[in-house]
Amino acid sequence: MREDFEILKSGLIYFDNGATTLKPNVVVDAVKDYYTKYTANAHRGDYDNSLKVDMLYEGVRDKVCHLINASSSSEVVFTSGATDSLNRIVFGFMEDYLKEGDEVLLTVSEHASNILPWFYLQEKCGIVVRFIPLTADNEVTLENVSMSITEKTKVISIAHVTNVLGDIRPVQEIGKLCQEKGILFVVDAAQSVPHRKVDVQSSHIDFLAFSAHKMLGPTGVGVLYGRLDLLSKMRPTSYGGGMNTSFDLEGNYALKSLPSKLEAGTPNIAGVIGLGAAIDYLNHLGYEAIEKQEKEVRDYLISELKKIPNIILYNENILSSNVAFNLKDVFSQDTAVYLNHYHICVRAGNHCAKTLKNAIHVNNTCRISLYFYNTKEEVDELIRVLKDSENIFKVIL
Ligand code: ALA
Repeated sequence: MREDFEILKSGLIYFDNGATTLKPNVVVDAVKDYYTKYTANAHRGDYDNSLKVDMLYEGVRDKVCHLINASSSSEVVFTSGATDSLNRIVFGFMEDYLKEGDEVLLTVSEHASNILPWFYLQEKCGIVVRFIPLTADNEVTLENVSMSITEKTKVISIAHVTNVLGDIRPVQEIGKLCQEKGILFVVDAAQSVPHRKVDVQSSHIDFLAFSAHKMLGPTGVGVLYGRLDLLSKMRPTSYGGGMNTSFDLEGNYALKSLPSKLEAGTPNIAGVIGLGAAIDYLNHLGYEAIEKQEKEVRDYLISELKKIPNIILYNENILSSNVAFNLKDVFSQDTAVYLNHYHICVRAGNHCAKTLKNAIHVNNTCRISLYFYNTKEEVDELIRVLKDSENIFKVIL
């Protein structure tokens, strides 16, 4: 399966899958075919290539619907990424839905895209953003969620799997609680859909956001899932072609039905077609095999990292693919630059999760984020280089 990834032939050790994953040849080929064999716009033409594009584009919507077990393809909207999806949820729906004083529960481990839009609404409309306390292991439990809910709580918006510490939230239980209490449940699934099954119906998820590029697909494409009755109340955040049925000089206009009314303008057709190829590839591998492979490499990685005396591990009990660490007394970015010298790619910094420091009491970490194509041999090379790190400044300066 590693041979399906052209880029791996260079010998690169790629441990930055939480930022974006590598793309298998089938995805690159699908994008290339669109540009070289049947380029046309979507939903606008009456000639063969255009009809082919419509069929493929809408076919990907069906694939996404099946992947997350939505009840209808009309609940699937293509966006430019998880950030765009979360912003549309907040500005296309919540801005009208929430009133002054209503509470939205988040956690300090959320990515910027699941905090800043809410902060804006807090500033503009007087909603109240509160944070669910984490356990000593920096996790979210049903108990902690439950004790954070007040009669003013209208929304809970959390990541399924967080992007730095990789803790997996019990979304099924939280979703059930939200449903019982009439609270809307928004899930940022950017770090989960690439690795594990997400079922919006059994988890009672009202809105879901994820990106294609973190699941083998192209950049610039994302998915917004919304429960049909909620999505039908969502205001478009963009108006233009492809989303209206009529307009006239008096200013009258009518919009198309879902999902078209939320996809103004020419969409990222090549990106969506690439996402379709990525979903086919993931389905072919199967989540079970992906999780098994990742677990094997993760367990090995953590046990080997723990043997290095000057390592600080922030999440050694993790069950996902993101492992955060620092070398004692070394700035995380220096470690990343040092690893880069050996063609090992990790991410360093605050990873867009700038309030996480309130939980782990450190601003910056190095993050190794695995995917199914990573191997124990790659881990061995990482460990060899880290063990040798007493000369780090000779190497990087
Ligand atoms: N959100 C991406 C990450 O965690 C970019 O690296």
